[in-house]
Amino acid sequence: MILKVITSNLGKVKEYRDSLGSFGIRIEHMKIPYDEIQSSKLEDVVKESMEHLKASGLTDFIIDDSGMFVDALGGFPGVYSAYVQKTVGNAGILKLMENVDARNANFQCCIGCNIKGKDIIVTGRCEGTILRKETGTEGFGYDPIFSHDGKRSFAELPLQEKNEVSHRGIAVKLLINEMKKIA
Ligand code: IMP
Repeated sequence: MILKVITSNLGKVKEYRDSLGSFGIRIEHMKIPYDEIQSSKLEDVVKESMEHLKASGLTDFIIDDSGMFVDALGGFPGVYSAYVQKTVGNAGILKLMENVDARNANFQCCIGCNIKGKDIIVTGRCEGTILRKETGTEGFGYDPIFSHDGKRSFAELPLQEKNEVSHRGIAVKLLINEMKKIA
């Protein structure tokens, strides 16, 4: 089976190639620009984007909308994660968290998958903390400041290990379960 992964993020493509590959699903990377609506829910963004892509004739594809939600910041940057990463970046989040001891945060990844004429939408979540400084060179985005075990950042984990515990890896496992139901 082949699924098109629609994203401009090569980090996501690598992760999907590894995680879906281990279930025998081949990935074809496509960059198709599409507008994302602004919503307080990742799932709404995914549903709307899927409708847009299907209306253009696309089938058998995956998109995802993800975000990092910091408890002490009321869930910020959350659905604004892409904009915040582009503007103030990890340094900006660390600055906001400078004198904050309660550092719990979570990552969420909502995957939308169109397969065999059906839509599957699943959300994976990974709990963790915001580190005091950026560490590691792997991954992308907020990986250098997020830790699932309170020790190593996501950017210090080999790809396979990140996929075992991450929001995206968990979402992929949920997706595979749903796919089995329609097989
Ligand atoms: P989007 O899903 O591409 O809109 O991602 C929103 C923002 O969160 C972007 O700045 C991504 O770089 C960041 N992001 C999404 N997934 C991850 C991840 O697995 N690790 C680190 N940052 C991520």
